[in-house]
Amino acid sequence: MMGSSIAVSLLLSGHPIIAIAPIKGEKEKANLHIRKLFRYCDKSGLLSKSIPAYLSSLHITEDFYELKSCELIIECVVENREIKRQVYERVEKIVSRDAIIATNTSAIPISILQQDLTFPERFIGIHWAEPAYGTRFMEIVNGSNSLPLYANWVYELAHEWDKEPTLLKKDIRGFITNRLMYAEFREAFFLEKCGITTFEDVDKAMRYDAGSWMTFMGLFERMDYIGLDDFKVIFEAVFPDLHNGDGVPEIMEYLVNKEARGTQDGMGVYQYTKEEAESWEESFAKFNKDIYRLATEFLEERNYSENEFLERNK
Ligand SMILES: NC(=O)c1ccc[n+]([C@@H]2O[C@H](COP(=O)([O-])OP(=O)(O)OC[C@H]3O[C@@H](n4cnc5c(N)ncnc54)[C@H](O)[C@@H]3O)[C@@H](O)[C@H]2O)c1
Repeated sequence: MMGSSIAVSLLLSGHPIIAIAPIKGEKEKANLHIRKLFRYCDKSGLLSKSIPAYLSSLHITEDFYELKSCELIIECVVENREIKRQVYERVEKIVSRDAIIATNTSAIPISILQQDLTFPERFIGIHWAEPAYGTRFMEIVNGSNSLPLYANWVYELAHEWDKEPTLLKKDIRGFITNRLMYAEFREAFFLEKCGITTFEDVDKAMRYDAGSWMTFMGLFERMDYIGLDDFKVIFEAVFPDLHNGDGVPEIMEYLVNKEARGTQDGMGVYQYTKEEAESWEESFAKFNKDIYRLATEFLEERNYSENEFLERNK
């Protein structure tokens, strides 16, 4: 999923890409998937030249040796430390001593993955969101042994990829965004298990409450807008009441044991027909495009220069 999506994002930004698909049959699959993503980009108005013109900068290969001249390597293989370790070992044997090696891991700490490298100081996290070519989000993460110059360089470069990156100076489980999301998941699973609500109603609440303001303003901007007094009173009453167990929700154990893959195979917290599942990727890509257009339009309407605001509040 993400390897193809990240390749498309970087091709859109004008970089030549060498994509490694080392598993038998995946080269052809990746090629077809990348072409499909370019068609979504085309429909969403993200292209400034023809699809073949972008594809001429893409080379998909099984051979790690072809990474030899790359300055930045982004690993996006399955979320498994041992498999990632094997990939770093192969990459480090080939690339130059100062090439940056980055991981797109969602949850394995950079400081842990870093222990498996011969030259750990050039290893960082570059955490993308799906669809990587359409979202502005990106977390750039230093591990405890990363030299900050590498993350700083990628942070600057990421603006050229049309991202609004955040830079984590220290690596924490879940980084920023997933950590916040996991807290929401824990509470939501708990409320469902207690029979207080349903998954459908949790999703409705997220979409029509948070979903109606989150692109317009962030969490703390929201707080300033609503009034700080109210929040103090609410925190006092609600914080002690929130679930803080550390077990995996039973339903997750059940779904994972059944090898459910969500929209990829139609089986997840919800069931999807093949047509429903297929429509997600394309319509989500279009949605992302529209939401950024809206966010930019309304930032302008608020007479708001994000750079000036951030500078004043440093
Ligand atoms: N899916 C998301 O929304 C998302 C978001 C952010 C980060 N991530 C992270 O990105 C990474 C990839 O996630 P994904 O959703 O694209 O997974 P995926 O299952 O779609 O792709 C994983 C890829 O790993 C490769 N792979 C498997 N075994 C391998 C091996 N032994 N050697 C080399 N390559 C191997 C395969 O090519 C496979 O296509 C994970 O670390 C995940 O946590 C995913």
